[in-house]
Amino acid sequence: MHFDLLLVGFGSVARRFVRLLEERADVLRDRYDLQAQVIGACTARHGAAFDPKGLPAALLLDRHSRGLNLNGSADATADRDLTVTWLLAHAKHAAAAALDDGRLVLVETTPLDVHHGGRPAIDHVRAGLEAGAHVVTANKGPVAFAYHDLAALAQKVGRRFLFEGAVMDGIPIFNLVRETLPGCEIVGFRGVVNATTNYILTAMERGQLYEVALAEMQHARIAEADPSHDVDGWDAAAKTAALINVLMDGDATPLTIAREGIRGITSEQMRGAVARGRRIRLVASARRDDDQAVGCVRPEELDEADPLAQLVEMQNAIILETDLLGRLGILQLDGGLTQTAYGLLSDVMRCQTSSSSRAPVEGPASG
Ligand SMILES: NC(=O)c1ccc[n+]([C@@H]2O[C@H](COP(=O)([O-])OP(=O)(O)OC[C@H]3O[C@@H](n4cnc5c(N)ncnc54)[C@H](OP(=O)(O)O)[C@@H]3O)[C@@H](O)[C@H]2O)c1
Repeated sequence: MHFDLLLVGFGSVARRFVRLLEERADVLRDRYDLQAQVIGACTARHGAAFDPKGLPAALLLDRHSRGLNLNGSADATADRDLTVTWLLAHAKHAAAAALDDGRLVLVETTPLDVHHGGRPAIDHVRAGLEAGAHVVTANKGPVAFAYHDLAALAQKVGRRFLFEGAVMDGIPIFNLVRETLPGCEIVGFRGVVNATTNYILTAMERGQLYEVALAEMQHARIAEADPSHDVDGWDAAAKTAALINVLMDGDATPLTIAREGIRGITSEQMRGAVARGRRIRLVASARRDDDQAVGCVRPEELDEADPLAQLVEMQNAIILETDLLGRLGILQLDGGLTQTAYGLLSDVMRCQTSSSSRAPVEGPASG
């Protein structure tokens, strides 16, 4: 089956994704009968491009690396109006068969903006679904702020809205629950879900200064240029809201998560905890309270035997509390761009299973 892709955002994740598509092209074709080509892309400051015959990864990557717009022009201001609306209008005209057959996927990888309620990513997802495309995203915003609306829209139009790359870099959490735990309730969870803060805290345990550890994460382009996103707990709160909405059928946003970051933690506190056989970690958690799922992100002092206490550097983990299986842990030892890109790829592959039909495909508590 042949899939056409539209990229909204061509940053680090999307660039790794288009490379991965090429690296895996033979396996996708031979083993999964899937051929996927990018036919359009738009960005905030690097213009946009559309070609129904396909935009090779090498072409887009080369233009991007030379500081050109995606269409090859050098005028940085020329293509500002070429947004997702422009992409979808072209697709409706030049890729109508792919839209009708459920073979067009919009891949959304713009940055999370918690201070604007997850917009404009939510609008991108909505526009894609309304046009008849499946939508996959690595952005936490849509699922953290508008999951139920977008899942209902996806169900109504018979398309997929998937977001495995949004939490723990594509390590399967949403798909694990959806596909392997039918009939099993998630009643709560605890986890360490932000790599930057875990790196900083464990570096402080070794005696490194907070500022030095944070600068290392920024240099590696893992922390945001504006570090408040990580160190004030916003990223973890967005992930917590996303997990509550999808896994616990809750109604959270990052703003409803009780949130405390790690700015106030000192090296003395970190080393003092170690001396007492304990560890401080930024813990994201959720539980049911009067039938409502409530979430919290805050530094907690943990017994060193606690699995979350043993996470070092950029390691993450989530422990799901279930009604039938007890506690179930998912440990991420290696995170990064390839894992996130794989999250997007695996979601695109899932769209294939529901293509050629406009019948509802979203079940309850699914994305
Ligand atoms: N990096 C990771 O390891 C990782 C892991 C998991 C999830 N994520 C999530 O994945 C998403 C992408 O991350 P990233 O690291 O690739 O970000 P990035 O490098 O900052 O790239 C963001 C891209 O979005 C584009 N963009 C911004 N606003 C836009 C708009 N209104 N319309 C169209 N394009 C727009 C930017 O355009 P310009 O190029 O013109 O600036 C850029 O191409 C984020 O939501 C992030 O939280 C990232």
